[in-house]
Amino acid sequence: MKQAVPASDLLGERVGVSDDIAVLRRQYPRDGWRTHASFGQLADFWLGVHAALRHEGDEVSRVVDAFRERRIDAAAFRRAFVPRLNGFLQHLDQHHRIEDHAYFPKFRQLDPKLVAGFDLLEADHALIQERLVATVDHARKLLEATAAPGVDCRGAVDGYVGAAGTLIDLLQRHLDDEEDLVIPALLHHGERPLL
Ligand SMILES: [Fe+2]
Ligand SMILES: [Fe+2]
Repeated sequence: MKQAVPASDLLGERVGVSDDIAVLRRQYPRDGWRTHASFGQLADFWLGVHAALRHEGDEVSRVVDAFRERRIDAAAFRRAFVPRLNGFLQHLDQHHRIEDHAYFPKFRQLDPKLVAGFDLLEADHALIQERLVATVDHARKLLEATAAPGVDCRGAVDGYVGAAGTLIDLLQRHLDDEEDLVIPALLHHGERPLL
């Protein structure tokens, strides 16, 4: 049965995970991951997906900034924003589903010391999903406002930026903390049990 995550460890409250949670981090520091003899395809893929998610989030923010600063008009904004936001959020949702259902259960089985950490990461996913839904809601309002002629969009832009900013902040923290758990575990135990 899963333990409740302490309030101070919740995403949005914590500034990183403790050594009690990231139990292998000290043994496998970040700057030595890629040169470690056991660094393999799965670790490389995992870091690649996270880098892509960070990049996709930045790309959406760049389009919103361009519209906010009136460097592009409403029609150009919609053309650039809709596919980028959809791609980013679908990729994020799909990645978290695979982690929750395929990989996290395997990590928990692999090493009992990792269980608390993967429970924490799964709780992060639930919070991120809530912020993702709120971001979609504000994106819809923003698109409605930009499609209506003569409507002042500033309130809708600010609403979207607030919701998306929270989502991105939580995601950045989550990705960094997850890497501190996942990559040392892959280096320590090898990738075979995860495949
Ligand atoms: Fe995750
Ligand atoms: Fe991830």
